Amino acid sequence: MMRSHTCGELRKSHVGQRVQLCGWVDTVRDHGGVIFIDLRDRYGVTQVIFDPRDSQEAWDRAQGSRGEYVIRIEGTVEPRPADMANPKLATGEIEVRSNTITVLNRSATPPFPLDDEEAAKVSEDLRMAYRYLDLRRPQMQKNMRYRHEMVQAIRVYLDRAGFTDIETPMMTKSTPEGARDYLVPSRILPGTFYALPQSPQQYKQLLMLAGFDRYYQVARCFRDEDLRADRQPEFTQIDMELSFVTPEDIYGIIDGLLAIIMKAAGHGEIALPLPRMKYDDAMNRFGSDKPDVRFGMEMTDVSDVFAGTQLKVFAGVLAKGGVVKALNAKGQGNTSLSVMDDWTAMAKDAGLGGLAYIRVSPEGEWKSPIAKFLSEGERQGLTKKLGMQPGDLVMFGADKLATVNTALGRIRLIAGEAAGLIDPKKFAFTWVTDFPLFERNDEGELQAMHHPFTSPHAEDLAFLDSDPLRVRAQAYDIVLNGVELGGGSIRIHDPELQARMFKILGIPTAEIEDRFGHLIRAFGYGAPPHGGIALGLDRLIMLMVGGESIRDVIAFPKTQKAMDLMMNAPARVDAKQLRDVHIRLDLPVENPATGPASG
Ligand code: AMO
Ligand code: AMP
Repeated sequence: MMRSHTCGELRKSHVGQRVQLCGWVDTVRDHGGVIFIDLRDRYGVTQVIFDPRDSQEAWDRAQGSRGEYVIRIEGTVEPRPADMANPKLATGEIEVRSNTITVLNRSATPPFPLDDEEAAKVSEDLRMAYRYLDLRRPQMQKNMRYRHEMVQAIRVYLDRAGFTDIETPMMTKSTPEGARDYLVPSRILPGTFYALPQSPQQYKQLLMLAGFDRYYQVARCFRDEDLRADRQPEFTQIDMELSFVTPEDIYGIIDGLLAIIMKAAGHGEIALPLPRMKYDDAMNRFGSDKPDVRFGMEMTDVSDVFAGTQLKVFAGVLAKGGVVKALNAKGQGNTSLSVMDDWTAMAKDAGLGGLAYIRVSPEGEWKSPIAKFLSEGERQGLTKKLGMQPGDLVMFGADKLATVNTALGRIRLIAGEAAGLIDPKKFAFTWVTDFPLFERNDEGELQAMHHPFTSPHAEDLAFLDSDPLRVRAQAYDIVLNGVELGGGSIRIHDPELQARMFKILGIPTAEIEDRFGHLIRAFGYGAPPHGGIALGLDRLIMLMVGGESIRDVIAFPKTQKAMDLMMNAPARVDAKQLRDVHIRLDLPVENPATGPASG
């Protein structure tokens, strides 16, 4: 037996017992000839003491040990004197007096301290290159443990709800989720490629056709897109699909699931059902389809107040059918001019011509670049409509509705943060429902807002060809604290409607057959009405542990450049491997990360 207990296990009740412990040397301290080693494993830390009077040999070895050495000790559990107890450690009431130590392995000096606070100060790239050491940090151990526990809770919940866990292929065909595919070349069929799944979307729909009724999977997804703090090129979804359901059924299942996750994460009970909001309301009130509803500061349309305004910018926008909307940042009237300049720059970045504002002094005086253009009626109208009081800061956006919404939505988040309105301890969920079916991409083409399998609202079907942007989808997102946790929809199960959808999206007939022929044919064999959702597991865990980035809750994440700095991937492959898969590179690329090409 290597060990009798873990380093987190011993308590007062073990006093007097002979024990064996294994772990890493966290610290070595010499206190007047007696050596103290804090021995660490994933369960905790135990203080071990070596006195030369117990064993000179053990003392010598203890003294020669360094941080991160792997050791095994044998000793007797002793109570710590009351004034030496460490209330911060679960094992803080005892220590182990040891006369036997084996060094199981030595360690080079780690390239950075394996301490949460100290590690936060070194570059993330360094930590990523030595991720196995970074993962030894208590916070990372805790995060990975949390992740495990939450996935267990999710599996138990879904199993009880009748879901079957079914794996779907990683080597498959492109399925549209709006990103680029990662491709895998085929050796056997020259010139052809598998795509790694952006999600198991088509498979899970086909599983409904196959009669499984309720499917789930802890599914790995791959998307080649620009990375951010909450985006990774490979990430994990809790992916589900259900037959014979309405959105209401899906909300119920996810509400229940999120309640047990919150509990498993130690955040207590949440009130169900979770609140819901229509997409149009989310955009109009919060300027985002993932509104942070931890705080108010909603937008108000003040176009009516400015109906006959002298203020040229607003008058011009209104004449063209645009809107003027306002945010009242209560009590923020003392915001400095330089901050207002920063925010104006942000508003411009978001597409507005500027950011007009009024800072109301404690005496009630309006300090504003636009004050002199405002009539008495406009002043009264604004005061009333926005509930303006001394000390307030009111900001305006004027443009097309969509532009104003997005821009003021961003300003709202920044102003809310600056005003201290965002409580980091709060968890505010909301469903966003009734998304539009289509949106226009940067090239002005129609594209599916969720994905092309999403079902339109029955009552909007009439506008599918004549006014597609007006058609609402049976699509929904679940949002937590301004982060899109998950999204899904009721699917199209009628082959004709599905084919029509692809046509409206401008996919040529030949391509429809090539890419989606299997799906349309499958729908011809008795497709049940079905729908589903996928939750981003990494994002969920990140929010549950209060992390800043999903990299904090993924064991081996990729960097902003989609690289694995520890394995050094992506990397060059040798010429033979390329020949095997019939690929000839058209650039003599020298990848700075991996050195010169080898063939
Ligand atoms: P969607 O594309 O909205 O839907 O993805 C669902 C959820 O997955 C998470 N997510 C990501 N997390 C980390 N890194 C990424 N790059 C990333 N991309 C997405 C988000 C998101 O809400 N097949 C549909 C689901 C369905 O219709 O059932 C889908 O994948 O939290
Ligand atoms: P200007 O007439 O361009 O000097 O703008 C007067 C004020 O209105 C300035 O504070 C601008 O930042 C602001 N402003 C300009 N265009 C817009 C707009 N589209 N929406 C909101 N404010 C604007």
